[in-house]
Amino acid sequence: MQDEAWKSLLTGDEHAVAADTREPLLAVFGPLQDARKHQRPCIVAQLGLSLDGRIATQTGDSKYINGRHALTHLHRLRALVDAVVIGAGTARADDPQLTVRHCAGAHPARVVIDPQGSIPATAKVWTDDGNRCLVFGGAADLPAHVERLAAPGGGIPVAGIVESLAAQGLHRLLIEGGADTLGRFLTAGYVDSLHLLYGRVILGSGRIGVSLPPIQSLSQALRPQGCAHVFPDGDLLVTCDLKTA
Ligand SMILES: NC(=O)c1ccc[n+]([C@@H]2O[C@H](COP(=O)([O-])OP(=O)(O)OC[C@H]3O[C@@H](n4cnc5c(N)ncnc54)[C@H](OP(=O)(O)O)[C@@H]3O)[C@@H](O)[C@H]2O)c1
Repeated sequence: MQDEAWKSLLTGDEHAVAADTREPLLAVFGPLQDARKHQRPCIVAQLGLSLDGRIATQTGDSKYINGRHALTHLHRLRALVDAVVIGAGTARADDPQLTVRHCAGAHPARVVIDPQGSIPATAKVWTDDGNRCLVFGGAADLPAHVERLAAPGGGIPVAGIVESLAAQGLHRLLIEGGADTLGRFLTAGYVDSLHLLYGRVILGSGRIGVSLPPIQSLSQALRPQGCAHVFPDGDLLVTCDLKTA
């Protein structure tokens, strides 16, 4: 994506960002743009959270915690990466399409981590629309266009996932969830930047968004730098630069 096309991400759709807040929001996408220019790997993760830090109800309902502006932000992230990665739990609960629909831009490749082959061949994520679909694990009867990958050394360790995707030319990744998959990438130290999108809703129960191994004291906690941006409908984006945390 060229510079101008990249800037038009914020202006060319129904949720165009007001001129006075455009520059700070553009900065949020900077690491992905830099990675594209300089052919560097970059891994961004996103979560849509309630104000009390939940990503779904107890039953797994998460559509939609956020309003349209945050959803558009997510689609802009998709448009800037080579591939979107989800865990089997998200594919089972949400049956997502993982395409770019709310802004201009190309669809990313879709990657599912499905060690037990639980995602059916009819899932939307396998739609044969000309975009790459890749799976770690996967059911035996998946459509022919779905590419099967193995992580080097067996198992599905995060390092192996990243290495296998890089070998496929997929260097800029968006980890779209859910909590288990994100936790694995965070724990392994592979996330450069985390985008937390808070919707104006309190669930009071349900699945927590960020789950990491327990720590004993606050001195061990991550304290990332980053910025905050309030969307016109009140949803809040908090970015966390985890490389400096
Ligand atoms: N609000 C949001 O932004 C958001 C985003 C995404 C999802 N969600 C919600 O989150 C819930 C799903 O999240 P979740 O934490 O339960 O599941 P998840 O992270 O989507 O998937 C976890 C599963 O993926 C597989 N997996 C992922 N990484 C693996 C690895 N490195 N090695 C082996 N297996 C791996 C395992 O599959 P198996 O279980 O088959 O072993 C694991 O149990 C749903 O309710 C969904 O609606 C919310």
